[in-house]
Amino acid sequence: MAPPDAILGITEAFTKDKNPNKVNLGVGVYRDDNAKPWVLPSVIEAEKRIFSQCMNKEYTTIIGMREFYNKAIELALGDDSDILKEKRYTSSQCLGGTGALRVGGAFLGLFWRGERLVHIPIPSWPNHRSIFMHSGFKIATYSYYDPKTLGLTTQGLFDALNKMPEKSIVLLHACAHNPTGCDPTKEQWCEISHIIRCRKLYPFFDMAYQGFATGDTDDDALAVRLFANDGHTFCLAQSFSKNMGLYGERVGALTIICSSAEEAKRVASNVKTLIRPMYSNPPVHGARIAIEIFKDNELYKIWMEDLKTMANRTIGMRQELREKLIELGSKQSWEHITNQIGMFCYTGLKLEQVARLTNEFSIYLTKDGRIAMVGVTSKNVGYVAECIHNVTKE
Ligand code: LMR
Repeated sequence: MAPPDAILGITEAFTKDKNPNKVNLGVGVYRDDNAKPWVLPSVIEAEKRIFSQCMNKEYTTIIGMREFYNKAIELALGDDSDILKEKRYTSSQCLGGTGALRVGGAFLGLFWRGERLVHIPIPSWPNHRSIFMHSGFKIATYSYYDPKTLGLTTQGLFDALNKMPEKSIVLLHACAHNPTGCDPTKEQWCEISHIIRCRKLYPFFDMAYQGFATGDTDDDALAVRLFANDGHTFCLAQSFSKNMGLYGERVGALTIICSSAEEAKRVASNVKTLIRPMYSNPPVHGARIAIEIFKDNELYKIWMEDLKTMANRTIGMRQELREKLIELGSKQSWEHITNQIGMFCYTGLKLEQVARLTNEFSIYLTKDGRIAMVGVTSKNVGYVAECIHNVTKE
């Protein structure tokens, strides 16, 4: 038997639990204040428009719908990007962020001529390791987070980048780092970009949370745009699972930024030959929803509001959880709950404390102490705080 998945396995265990007070803070999926899945109003309206057009169910192309992937990359790079004007890129519609990472991994696995090494931050989303291993790479790790300060280890990160073998690949979380919720500042990103250039490293950005970190898609694109302006070539995996709430529709995009339009054409032709035997072509419905939202100003504005609704509710819950822990008399500093950003809080809870939360109180979270803040609601925040206090008090 293979072990259960580090994240999705938790949902399986949660489903079997009979405790009426159970709370699932494992997987990163947004919930409304009643702990119910939330279909974004912009998505509901987009679907109405799609149904009214009675669209057919033909195959799309191997790399999906042009209207989708062109808008997706515009969202990441900004519509005034030189890369777009010079056509120095190739984008493909993929099966969510995971699919985009996997196709990018397969492409590099076949054509990468440098060190067969992908550097992943410690900690990182567990699937990164598996994806790049399955793409034929060895995995190395780099310092990112300091458990003592519960924040970014700036010097540790710079030192690690400086020591990486030339021409190896470095996986970067574009925004709202999963699981820590700690992102570099603009100045730190500038330095990261500088070191990556000096060390001849190849960046692979995973952007699963654009709009979810700050509530603003432009602000969250800071790192990717900075690397684009600095002239890097890189891979970018985008996911619309979180920011459009299209989890099960599997909507994502892979873009490979190239050094010329001519190179981009060659890369595109090879990406196609990889996708065709993997899954032939991507599903159409989710991408059609995204297209409807992208192409209509009014719907786009509603989407931006939806993003703010999700980001603000999550920020509010961070505040409440922290206040409740202090009210309960916790002696620990829970400042990091409100300092961190995005979907998750990296609580700093130890393995035994996590086990107690799950076994005694039916609160489900990943073993590394990550909780999905998006699953905390005004109804369960009191219970969650009490249980955390219970397992952390001396
Ligand atoms: C998570 O980290 O919880 C999400 O990215 C969902 C997943 O696929 O793991």
